[in-house]
Amino acid sequence: MAQLWGGRFTGSINELAWDFNASISFDKRFLEVDVTGSKAHAQMLAKQGIISDDEKDAICKGLDSILTDVQNGQLEITNKYEDIHSFLEANLIERIGDAGKKVHTGRSRNDQVALDMRLYAKSEVIRMSELLLNVLKVLDGMMKDNLETYMPGFTHLQKAQPVTLAHHLGAYFEMFKRDLLRMKDILNRMNYCPLGAGALAGTTYPLDREYTAELLGFYGPTLNSMDSVSDRDYLIEFMAALSTVMMHLSRFSEEIIIWNSNEYHFVIIDDAYSTGSSIMPQKKNPDIAELVRGKTGRVYGDLMSLLTTMKGIPLAYNKDMQEDKEAFFDAIDNTQNCLTLFTDMLATLKFDKAAMEKSAMLGFTNATDAADYLVNKGMPFRDAHSVIGRLVLHCIDKKCAIDDLSLQELKTFSESFEEDIYDAISLETCVKKRLTIGAPSPDAMKKVMSINDEFLTSFSLS
Ligand code: ARG
Repeated sequence: MAQLWGGRFTGSINELAWDFNASISFDKRFLEVDVTGSKAHAQMLAKQGIISDDEKDAICKGLDSILTDVQNGQLEITNKYEDIHSFLEANLIERIGDAGKKVHTGRSRNDQVALDMRLYAKSEVIRMSELLLNVLKVLDGMMKDNLETYMPGFTHLQKAQPVTLAHHLGAYFEMFKRDLLRMKDILNRMNYCPLGAGALAGTTYPLDREYTAELLGFYGPTLNSMDSVSDRDYLIEFMAALSTVMMHLSRFSEEIIIWNSNEYHFVIIDDAYSTGSSIMPQKKNPDIAELVRGKTGRVYGDLMSLLTTMKGIPLAYNKDMQEDKEAFFDAIDNTQNCLTLFTDMLATLKFDKAAMEKSAMLGFTNATDAADYLVNKGMPFRDAHSVIGRLVLHCIDKKCAIDDLSLQELKTFSESFEEDIYDAISLETCVKKRLTIGAPSPDAMKKVMSINDEFLTSFSLS
């Protein structure tokens, strides 16, 4: 056991308590950001004349060499240390001697870990944005290919009105676009540097917090030292945004699972993203989509875990806050894995367009348009609704579509039916007449897609 705080103690810590308290098994992910933060801190200490330039150079070189050795496998991060901060400081002192003992001047592990988490979370926001842009680009390409692929649109999982595959996919485009914009908001709000807050009340050294903030790419320093060391709002916001991404992925997965079922047969999932059964030779299961749906609950759990951890914590730092890490790492790892795999699965999905179109034809998805046809011939909408309702009942009985009835038969329901009814209720007409912005007609969709293209080319996090 190599702790930073031996001086005040006469006895040694209980072994179980040591393990219980230690965070190195998971905060070792902070190796790189801790080195970056410590180097910026040393640079600032030298600029302010608190340490010498030689000491600063030794510290920076020493930290870099530790990082390289760990990355090359020449130095192992072991449980001998309480956390990654202790590991780095102990190794630095071992390598450069007394100068290493100065790196923690004007700093506490409380502002150090707050900085590490922000730097780490910032890079993950950037990664999430890349992954969200990828899924948006895949969707954009699929939409362009399917402006006239007809399918039923559903409400209550009952066939409702005809739409196109491009339009259906466009709904997910909007969801992931909002997710991406959320990443930008979160980054903007969290981009302030807590370093220099000390344990809770700043320090008596003449630190230049603006300088370290600038060196580390933040807009500026945080403005209250107690809040700086105990704020985890940005993680909660981030995890809420991750939960929303997962909710979108889960809804999409659910649809793919339904579309992949024997009954629907709208899609064929590529073999690369399906698994078989150990007993039933005919099976090809959508396990990846199911697991994405399943892992959504886990990411919600991570968010709940941190919210609950934070709710009773008095100012300022308390050790409970160490619990933020495993929850956040789990949420970010799972969301990124799911998003990556899901995007690949989506890009390789094959659509059975004939089955989709047939399903739209056979589901009375043109019933509203048939009623609108009668309205155009002068019938009040409520009466038209009732006529078409009776017509549908008749078709259900005959196991046919409205379009299958002869004009003579149609006329027994209303004299207003003419030969032009067949064109008026064709899938193509039903979709093409829905021209308002946001509706499924190819013309309306083309306008939306040029807005999407502009969004995809001009999006930036800054
Ligand atoms: N491992 C700790 C955490 O993750 C680092 C901060 C320790 N600070 C302290 N006062 N014990 O929160």
